[in-house]
Amino acid sequence: MTTHPAPTISPEQTAVEQELLDTVLASFDKTEDPRLKQLMQALTRHLHNFLREVRLTEEEWNTGIEFLTAAGHITDDKRQEFVLLSDVLGASMQTIAINNPAHTGTAPATEATVFGPFFVQDAPEIPIGGDIAGGAHGQPCWVEGTVTDTDGNPLPGARIEVWEADEDGFYDVQYTDDRVAGRAHLYADHEGKYAFWALTPTPYPIPHDGPVGKMLEAVGRSPVRASHLHFMVTAEGQRTLVTHIFVKGDPQIEIGDSVFGVKDSLVKHFDTQAPGTPTPDGRNLNNQTWTRTRFDITLAPANV
Ligand code: BEZ
Ligand code: FE
Repeated sequence: MTTHPAPTISPEQTAVEQELLDTVLASFDKTEDPRLKQLMQALTRHLHNFLREVRLTEEEWNTGIEFLTAAGHITDDKRQEFVLLSDVLGASMQTIAINNPAHTGTAPATEATVFGPFFVQDAPEIPIGGDIAGGAHGQPCWVEGTVTDTDGNPLPGARIEVWEADEDGFYDVQYTDDRVAGRAHLYADHEGKYAFWALTPTPYPIPHDGPVGKMLEAVGRSPVRASHLHFMVTAEGQRTLVTHIFVKGDPQIEIGDSVFGVKDSLVKHFDTQAPGTPTPDGRNLNNQTWTRTRFDITLAPANV
């Protein structure tokens, strides 16, 4: 491994660098919006500290600009390379952690995790016990649970959006035939209970054919995400929850999720059921193996 010893910086050079930083910081002094002023000055301070700490070369500065330019070029209304960059740097998860505290004094709320780029508005509605697969291939999986608030009260009518990749690791929107599959929404019943059929989640890579994928390759990191099923849950007066559940025993959890989305509380046991095991709703699975899992969801109050 090549290491770069910290160069000795003369007091004169340090003074030159500090003076520039101070001048740039002062350039924001007249910003009327105090929050904008705080953001711009902190960004400037951290950016200059980074440049000075690593002693950035001009060639490296150029490489950085080329990287950002490529991220811009590949970004359109379907592909968002900057969000992907934020995801693989853990910046998305850190922002989620800051803004979605699970522990607010009462029972803990269900933890949040990354949104990802594959949510689609207006996915079909299914009844309780319906199937989100819509023709997507994979092992059937029965998912059930309740939606409550942090005082344990059920939240009847909570809206539950679910979406996932098929067994080949692709979301419907990654195919070119306009299919709608592996996604749906449903509403919790009068006791806050819900249940649906989905597919047992399998690992898949984040889009890695662009600059973020190149960067991951250069640093020896895998683009693969731990197997998961996405949820977005909304109920009046409650904070919207964007989360996933992960599959206990999935080796990718140990290897590492490429966007740092795994939280212990979201890792669920997916119980494998032998062929012929009766299903909760009497569905005939033609002797296939299937799984079942439980995910009880607690929503935090909207104002916390
Ligand atoms: C996903 O889980 O769908 C996802 C999340 C972050 C980046 C790319 C994909
Ligand atoms: Fe996903």
